[in-house]
Amino acid sequence: MPSQKNFLTGFGSVAIHSGHEKDNHNAHLTPIYASSTYVFDNAEQGMRRFNGEEKGYIYSRWGNPTITEAEKKISALESFKINEENEAPVLLKTLLHASGMAALSSLVLGTLKTGDKILSHFSLYGGTQELMEKVLPPLGIEAIIVDLRNLNKAAEALKNDNRIKMLYLETPANPTIQCVDIEELTKLGKERNVIVAVDNTFATPFLQQPFRYGVDYVFHSTTKFLNGHGTAIGGALIGKDIERMETRMTKVHRLLGGSSNSFDAFLLTQGMKTLEVRMERHCRNAMAVAKFLEQNQSVAKVNYLGLISHPDYSTANKQMTHPGAMLSFELKDGLQAGKNFIDKLQMCVRAVSLGSCDTLLSHPASMTHFGVPREKREKYGITDGLIRMSVGIENEEDILNDLDQALN
Ligand SMILES: Cc1ncc(COP(=O)(O)O)c(C=O)c1O
Repeated sequence: MPSQKNFLTGFGSVAIHSGHEKDNHNAHLTPIYASSTYVFDNAEQGMRRFNGEEKGYIYSRWGNPTITEAEKKISALESFKINEENEAPVLLKTLLHASGMAALSSLVLGTLKTGDKILSHFSLYGGTQELMEKVLPPLGIEAIIVDLRNLNKAAEALKNDNRIKMLYLETPANPTIQCVDIEELTKLGKERNVIVAVDNTFATPFLQQPFRYGVDYVFHSTTKFLNGHGTAIGGALIGKDIERMETRMTKVHRLLGGSSNSFDAFLLTQGMKTLEVRMERHCRNAMAVAKFLEQNQSVAKVNYLGLISHPDYSTANKQMTHPGAMLSFELKDGLQAGKNFIDKLQMCVRAVSLGSCDTLLSHPASMTHFGVPREKREKYGITDGLIRMSVGIENEEDILNDLDQALN
């Protein structure tokens, strides 16, 4: 008789049931284990737990049952229906962190050393970019930024510098919604023995599974679509080298101290159970919004991966099952038009972040990128009138009505 979890064939069922262990008191949901430490029966048991002979919890910075459930669920979703060359299912290990940035810190500090370099694309989440520009260089780790949509440039960069040890891909990227080709870049990276890591925050494993292409690590800001309700900050680092994940990466995770906590892990677990249905609705709404904006007189340009006009349409089409729920658009009348539009919204929410049930809109020129000189911003496609939108799961007509009245 197969175990219940192996028996499941659908992504939605796996999202609901995987990772769950029967609770000792028969609680339906794994409780929020609000305990910093765990009791040993005697010194012998303490010793066995510390040296790994006996499984069991010790101290919550190292993990606890609520956190474990979320970690196992993420591993199950990122590996859903992916097999090794010998047909065995791919196994993954996830380490849950206090934030996406904490997970990224563990990734970088757990894999790189002074003198190593990271190769990445120019469009990255602002925090990741700052980490690469300000925090890593004093440690002797440098980032080389090229347009990774051009595979020749990527190959040339890898060929010219054998100190590049990591290829770091964020696709689709924040805030420009650009895509890079995970399969082709992974091939190039692997030819030179380079670690390949992918930030899969915008897509989620429902739309894109980078482990299909042989990447080494996937990373998430779980704050976004995985949680789905905007209730907790969190991050996940997922790796396929289980031994390394259980030794070096676990050590780095525990000692840097950016661990998650039971309350946030509980919220994340409940949020992930509805990932499939939420994503289907997010995506359907996003397509309707993109088509609506394309027809609007005040809009100069719509950047959505589902529109054939998007330069990365074919890359997205190749590696994502749907172009997602993130888009941006440019208003014809620039900065003031952007501010006016944002101020007029009635239902949609004026906020940064993304991936919530609510539709969230931000105006990078007056918010996230206010401090970035205009010329630098524009080089990356962040113009004065650019609006970034995370399309929510409200009813389509209410989103369109709100946009319509705010654009008039
Ligand atoms: C693509 C992407 N990666 C990483 C992060 C950082 O995650 P967190 O805010 O959870 O630390 C964000 C946050 O917006 C993001 O959008």
